[in-house]
Amino acid sequence: CGIVGYVGARPALSIVLDGLRRLEYRGYDSAGVAVIARRSADAASLLTEKHAGKLANLEKALGERAADGIEAGATGIGHTRWATHGGPTDRNAHPHVSADGRVAVIHNGIIENFAKLRAELESTGTEFASDTDTECAAHLLAAELASVTADGGTGPEALAEAMRRVCRRLEGAFTLLAVDTLTPDAVVGARRNSPLVVGRGEGEYFMASDVSAFIEHTRSAIELGQDQVVLITPGGVAITDFGGTPATGQDYHVDWDAAAAEKGGYDYFMLKEIDEQPRAVAETLLGRLNDAGQIVLDEVRLTDQDLRDVDKIFIVACGTAYHAGLVTKYAIEHWTRIPCEVELASEFRYRDPVLDRSTLVVAISQSGETMDTLMALRHAKEQKARVLAVCNTNGSTIPRESDAVLYTHGGPEIAVASTKAFLTQLTACYLVGLHLAQVRGVMFADEVAAVVERLQRTPDQLTALLAEMGPVRQLANDLRDASTVLFIGRHVGYPVALEGALKLKELAYMHAEGFAAGELKHGSIALIDQGTPVVCVVPSPVGRGVLHDKVVSNIQEVRARGARTIVIAEEGDEAVAAYADHLIRVPRTPTLLAPLMTTVPLQVLACGIAAARGNDVDQPRNLAKSVTVE
Ligand code: G6P
Repeated sequence: CGIVGYVGARPALSIVLDGLRRLEYRGYDSAGVAVIARRSADAASLLTEKHAGKLANLEKALGERAADGIEAGATGIGHTRWATHGGPTDRNAHPHVSADGRVAVIHNGIIENFAKLRAELESTGTEFASDTDTECAAHLLAAELASVTADGGTGPEALAEAMRRVCRRLEGAFTLLAVDTLTPDAVVGARRNSPLVVGRGEGEYFMASDVSAFIEHTRSAIELGQDQVVLITPGGVAITDFGGTPATGQDYHVDWDAAAAEKGGYDYFMLKEIDEQPRAVAETLLGRLNDAGQIVLDEVRLTDQDLRDVDKIFIVACGTAYHAGLVTKYAIEHWTRIPCEVELASEFRYRDPVLDRSTLVVAISQSGETMDTLMALRHAKEQKARVLAVCNTNGSTIPRESDAVLYTHGGPEIAVASTKAFLTQLTACYLVGLHLAQVRGVMFADEVAAVVERLQRTPDQLTALLAEMGPVRQLANDLRDASTVLFIGRHVGYPVALEGALKLKELAYMHAEGFAAGELKHGSIALIDQGTPVVCVVPSPVGRGVLHDKVVSNIQEVRARGARTIVIAEEGDEAVAAYADHLIRVPRTPTLLAPLMTTVPLQVLACGIAAARGNDVDQPRNLAKSVTVE
């Protein structure tokens, strides 16, 4: 899931390990490195080390090998793996080395035709040392290198040509990096449907799954296109397509600084990111509202006419981003009166949705690399729908392939469990909804301005809310041994309940479930036993009193059956106090904007319970920050 490569004059091992540490946030279950160590001017050897578990396991083993010269080699690759084919064991960890010991390969993604390739290689006597799809690429690369050399090819160019030949045989999604003992000053990379960026230094080059791996060394980066092979040597970078035609990458400057990706005194990135939410929301609003309180989305490359032509909206996303989509549906339908469906990206294309030119598909993704979401958007484009991406990562694949993009300005999110990205996704989606309503004339200017005014207040309200989280942290400690926690909500409080439960599952490894409060009585209420914690997200009593009163009745229902109620309610809502075993107050907002507030205590609660249980808050087991496989 994390990939790093280095070639230059400095010792590669420490640079590669530092890079892997910076990519740890992506989630992984094993790690490994390969370094080319020069023995003399014309002899080099390949040193690899790989282990299941955290980087510390790898580092310990490397410490014991100091005498091998692995620390001095100036060409290296490193990998953190999130298991797909084959369990997370030492032998399945990357790099994988060819049978002749000449090349080492690391890989992200899935090689879909690996069974066929493996059978073919085995039939000619190749023995496999792992259960992975990646190992095929290592054996194929060695075979292609032998044949390129037999054709007279030499040096780094021969390595690049061999990689191109391998790529032409692979199906599926992959980023590959490889080193070759006979070409000690080069790393070759390739990408199809999976991220890879190049970093340009002085007499040294980097490759990585994202820029955070090398921003402490250089801010100068090169974005690669689809289906490209890239060769880095101390003297430069050469890019071609899989056929060998030269290509150019897109140069860009990385503008966020390394500090944004550091913990800055917090115990966990997650806590830091929860606290960054007021600023993240403010940044996402910045420059998108004019003095008259109207939405200005000039950067969205869809004309007003395009937006007037929309007669149906689909939102596609995964995980937390999907929950942002569920909230958005309530807002968009209420404000614009355009029918809006929200779909799990992984289900979307397989059920043959009805789409055409007047359908707007909104793809929400923090990373912009989630394969399920990418495939959903490609399907939408094939069906001629227009696609708008709501994304946090500049230049990532999803916005690149969309017709239009609205960036959330949340800054880098490192903790695997998403927090500030969720709030900024909501903010951006509210802007989309209001903009649509404004352009289509379904809301008057003063109605839009009234919502905008409330949106602009939310950063300060979030700051005030975050200052009151002490009791929630205390409660987290009390709930550390609960066996199940239920979450209920209605209207936009329902997706918030789903998000609260997801956070708890992800972080605390606890059984948790979110329900529409009104649905509970139709079956799931049977789960409630004496003392079962039930988190109740209560809508504002102002405006939609009916909704509020219904939730209060639902709280009474669960309480009558023994539940311990944890009630999230607005300041000034006195009606709920009598039914709350624990009452958590949030600032007053219009109903549709309430998720910007009510989600926050649920994030703090999940983070606190996970910490109290001794779990790894930033990198929960089995999870990856960005899932680049389907
Ligand atoms: C992974 C992460 C989740 C995230 C989801 C969607 O599963 O663990 O936290 O919500 O992907 O990610 P995206 O980058 O597309 O928003």
